[in-house]
Amino acid sequence: MSYLETACSAAKQAGTMILSQMGTGQAAEKKSSRFDVVTEIDKRAEEMIRSIILESYPDHAFLGEEETFGSGKPVEQILKERSDRPYLWIVDPIDGTANFIHGIPGYTVSIALLCRGELRLGVIYDPCRDDLYWAESGKGAFCNGKPAAVTDAEQAEDCVIGTGFVSTPAYREMNIATMEAIGREFRTIRSLGSAALTLAYVACGKLDAFWEYGLSAWDVAAGVLLVEESGGMVTNTKGDPFRLWDRNIAASNAKVHSTLLPCLV
Ligand code: IPD
Ligand code: CA
Ligand code: CA
Ligand code: CA
Repeated sequence: MSYLETACSAAKQAGTMILSQMGTGQAAEKKSSRFDVVTEIDKRAEEMIRSIILESYPDHAFLGEEETFGSGKPVEQILKERSDRPYLWIVDPIDGTANFIHGIPGYTVSIALLCRGELRLGVIYDPCRDDLYWAESGKGAFCNGKPAAVTDAEQAEDCVIGTGFVSTPAYREMNIATMEAIGREFRTIRSLGSAALTLAYVACGKLDAFWEYGLSAWDVAAGVLLVEESGGMVTNTKGDPFRLWDRNIAASNAKVHSTLLPCLV
């Protein structure tokens, strides 16, 4: 199997398991803050994906959200520590745990592969809708096998902008302030509850742009490649080229990027 086939298979297997557990009253355990929660299903899904990937590629490195939590290390440091092996998989087993817990459709499995620090592929699976998104570096982005393309909207009043609320209170304050500016400028705002799904929606032209403060590499790695490969633009919220340890992200159809950035902090 190719790397892409392995990633798609792992995302679908984990997504099917997660969907089968929706609505079964999974207990929400607190993590880093009072807003940050995890369930046994997040951990089970990460273990499933890890074993599928490492059985196929035992010499590759693996970075999963749930395993990383507790190390207390910044992601930049972990990425550097694991850079001795050329291939690194970055996985968010459930992106949108709050949606999963509340029974709201709209959570994803997000899997990215880096080769020597560069994004090589990204796969995002939405099990509630059975939608599979993938991108390979230099080969484009796809939704359920069809080529994905960003919108061509140029005017702010024609644009729907996605965002999300992280669990860290200081980043949430930044977002609340930004919503005022975006709400005045653009057609409307949507908070889907999964950063990966939101980036996939920018890539396939459902949303025109996305911003969020305080994200981590596993939230965005696959989605960044999807947006770039579908003709969009991804930067940090200052407008610099996006690096995976950047916490603040701005992604768009490229055409509205310069209207989006001045609204961000
Ligand atoms: C969260 C989701 C959410 C975003 C949060 C993330 P999790 O990830 O992506 O949309 O707003 O910032 O932490 O915790 O459900 O994997
Ligand atoms: Ca989480
Ligand atoms: Ca996440
Ligand atoms: Ca997660």
